[in-house]
Amino acid sequence: MGPGPSDAHPRVLKAMATPLIGHLDPQFLEIMDDIKVMVQKTMQTKNHLTFVVSAPGSAGMETCLVNLLEPGDEALICVHGVFGNRMADIVERCGAKLIRIDAPWGSPIDPAQVKQTLMTCKPKIVAIVHAETSTGVLQPLEEISKLVHDAGALFVVDAVTSYCGTEIKVDEWGIDAIYSGSQKCLSAPPGLSPVSFSDRAVAALDHRKTKVQSWFLDLTMVKNYWAGAKRAYHHTGPISAMYAMREALRLVLEEGLEKRFERHRKNHLLLKEGLESLGFEFLVEEPYRLPMLNAVKLPKGVDDATTRMRLLNEFNIEVGGGLGDFAGKIWRVGLMGNSATPNHVNQLVGALKEII
Ligand SMILES: Cc1ncc(COP(=O)(O)O)c(C=O)c1O
Repeated sequence: MGPGPSDAHPRVLKAMATPLIGHLDPQFLEIMDDIKVMVQKTMQTKNHLTFVVSAPGSAGMETCLVNLLEPGDEALICVHGVFGNRMADIVERCGAKLIRIDAPWGSPIDPAQVKQTLMTCKPKIVAIVHAETSTGVLQPLEEISKLVHDAGALFVVDAVTSYCGTEIKVDEWGIDAIYSGSQKCLSAPPGLSPVSFSDRAVAALDHRKTKVQSWFLDLTMVKNYWAGAKRAYHHTGPISAMYAMREALRLVLEEGLEKRFERHRKNHLLLKEGLESLGFEFLVEEPYRLPMLNAVKLPKGVDDATTRMRLLNEFNIEVGGGLGDFAGKIWRVGLMGNSATPNHVNQLVGALKEII
């Protein structure tokens, strides 16, 4: 019940024990095609360039940024926690010019601030985190997306924590590049990053004047492995992790997206009731709270490290601690994918009642 990885369904664990086949075996290419279609469905997009990066969410982040940015380009990064900061760091490593907007940790980015900043610069991309795992903030996207497109920029979204736990409509919301992770609300093992690029983003890739500085993440080559007519070798695919990914995506679609989002919301409310009865307070204002990552301030007299250690050692329950300025002051309680159940909530609240 930390900020990920979440518990995996037994069907997902079993899928990983399937015998290996080659990464260019026609059967494995079929599995890749199945995965691509299911990622399109779960991201609510028809984007042709939709696939899974063979590395964790940070590599999905880097894939979006290193492919869309060239040295000298301007990039506006909205920062309201650790992962916005990580994007800003990558932008500078690309040799691009970083422009950043900051919101206090625990609050979302205000679209008015984006509007104002866009009057003073001409960025190629604007990037933002949809679900800030370091603070528990759900960032509304639609208004900002419109501002970004009016300014002629591409809209890049981090959906590592929100994907498969709350609504993401890539096409309807005008998202040009999006990346996620396998280990949060999808409940697959860590190490894969589903990504998707709009036709506008693909056109930007086609017009690059310089080579992408990362060989591994260069989409001009990776896309031939995923979608090219010849399916050329690029790297040795993570076969077992992909078996698991396919099973996890099937489970999401069997449950249905709406039902899954509702399950996350319901269990978040159950957890809220239990934690508030013990004196915990939510860090984030109600309209911006993530259902799958509950950031709560510790009640007076409850020590962070010893309580979390007792939860782990005596009750086998893991919750996440605070990061940065919030270290020692907040907890980050995950209710992600297969871990978003009343049983998880009741066990945690019961254990805390006993400890406190
Ligand atoms: C919002 C967000 N972005 C990016 C990442 C990086 O993902 P990974 O740890 O899989 O590299 C995380 C991981 O927790 C995250 O929560």
